[in-house]
Amino acid sequence: MWTNPSASKVGSEQWPYKVDATRIAQTPADRWPQLAVGHDVFASSPIRTGQTVFITQCLACHKMNGAGDASMGPDLNVPHNPT
Ligand code: HEC
Repeated sequence: MWTNPSASKVGSEQWPYKVDATRIAQTPADRWPQLAVGHDVFASSPIRTGQTVFITQCLACHKMNGAGDASMGPDLNVPHNPT
């Protein structure tokens, strides 16, 4: 997985023994359509920035409108939005 293993400073004990398979996963917005923003939202919109922040920073622990598979924290919109 590394082209220059000694430069990565990752100990060999943390290397995977064997890669069994790789697959391309669906994006969260494809998997949970309720996370998708409208096609009419322009690329530089803060709405898209918020979607990216939520998916990278929050989705690991929170659902949003039932979307996601985490249960560490509460759903951030159901039954009500905490803000
Ligand atoms: C490592 C897991 C984790 C991540 C990542 C995380 N949260 Fe949380 N969050 C929690 C947990 C657990 C609670 C519940 C804490 C409690 O009840 O005391 C919580 C509670 C909350 C609450 C209060 C909800 C309510 O109804 O009171 C909000 C709002 C919130 N998180 C927003 C966010 C946002 C926004 C992000 C991303 C920027 C985020 N969290 C990322 C675990 C996480």
